[in-house]
Amino acid sequence: MRGLLLAGGTGSRLWPVTRSVSKQLLPIFDKPMIYYPLSTLIRAGIRETLIVTAPESTDQIRRLLGDGRQWGLRLEYAVQPRPEGIAQALLVGEEFLAGGPVALVLGDNILHGAGLGRKLSEYTTLTGARVFAYPVANPSAYGVISVDEAGRASSIEEKPVVPRSRYAVPGLYFYDGDAVKIAHGLRPSLRGELEITALNEEYLRRGSLRVTVLGRGAAWMDAGTFTTLMHASEYVRVIEERQGRKIGCVEEAAWRAGLIDNEQLRALALPLQKSGYGEYLLRLATEPGRQNSPTGGTGEDPTAVP
Ligand code: TTP
Repeated sequence: MRGLLLAGGTGSRLWPVTRSVSKQLLPIFDKPMIYYPLSTLIRAGIRETLIVTAPESTDQIRRLLGDGRQWGLRLEYAVQPRPEGIAQALLVGEEFLAGGPVALVLGDNILHGAGLGRKLSEYTTLTGARVFAYPVANPSAYGVISVDEAGRASSIEEKPVVPRSRYAVPGLYFYDGDAVKIAHGLRPSLRGELEITALNEEYLRRGSLRVTVLGRGAAWMDAGTFTTLMHASEYVRVIEERQGRKIGCVEEAAWRAGLIDNEQLRALALPLQKSGYGEYLLRLATEPGRQNSPTGGTGEDPTAVP
C-alpha cells in the first residue's frame, strides 16, 4: 500500500497567515503540521508516499521533507493545479499508485492514541474501503457517518445541516485499488470539488465500506482554523511536556519502525540540538530498553505515542 498525503488546498480559513505559506508548514507546537500525518502513515507501515501540493508550495515542502531517504522512506511530489477536492488527489496520484491500494491522509489532521499504529497497520491489506468514525461536538462541520450496532456504516453525508450521528470521519482513509477508478467517475459537487465523501458513498453503495469507531482514548484534530490550530498546539504541548514523549515526531516513528538505526537517529539529531528537538532524538537513541525493532514492522512504543 502506498500513501497519498494531501498538502494542497487554499487554507482560506487561516488567511492572512496562509496567503504566502502552506498551511501544512505552520507549526503545531514544536514541529511542522505535515510531520503529524506523515508519522501516522509511517506508523501504519507505509513507506512510499506521494505528497500532493499546491503549485506554489512544492519547493518549500520538498526543502523540509526531501526524498525521505533520511528517514528510510520514499517520498515523491505531485502538484494539484487547483484545490478541486480531496478525491481529486487520487487522480493526481494515479500513476504513482499504479492500480494498488492507498492510504490517503489529510495534511492538517492529527491522530494520536494508544495502539493506533498497530491498528492502522492491519488495514494496509484490504478489499473495499476503511474509514474511521470519531465522536465530535460539531459533526455538521465534517463528513458524518452513521454506524449500526454491528459496526457497519449505514449512511455518510458531507457537512449535513441535520447530522444523523455524532460521528465525524477523520482525514485518514484506506482504499483498495478501485479508488482511482471510482474517483474518475465522480462529478464536482455544488462547491466545485470532487468530494471524498462521494467516493466513500460509492464504496458504501457497493457494500464495501468498513468503519472503525475510535474510542475516547484516541485524539483526532484538524488544524484548519485559528482556534483548532491553537487547540492542536496546546494538546501536543501538554502531552509532550507531561510525558516527555513527542507526538508526530517523524524521526522517532522511522526509528521505532526499524527504518533507521541509532546511528542514523543521532546524525539526524545533531543539527537540531538548539531547539531541543535534537536533544530528544539523542535521548531516544541512548535510552535503555527502547531500542528500535531490528526486524522492522511498526515498532509500537509501549507508551504508544505516534
Ligand atoms: P480543507 O481544510 O477542507 O481546505 P483548505 O486546506 O483549502 O482550507 P480552507 O477550507 O480554509 O480554505 O482541506 C483539508 C486538507 O486537505 C488540507 O490539508 C488541504 C488538503 N486539500 C488538498 O490538498 N487539496 C484540495 O483540493 C482540498 C480541498 C484540500
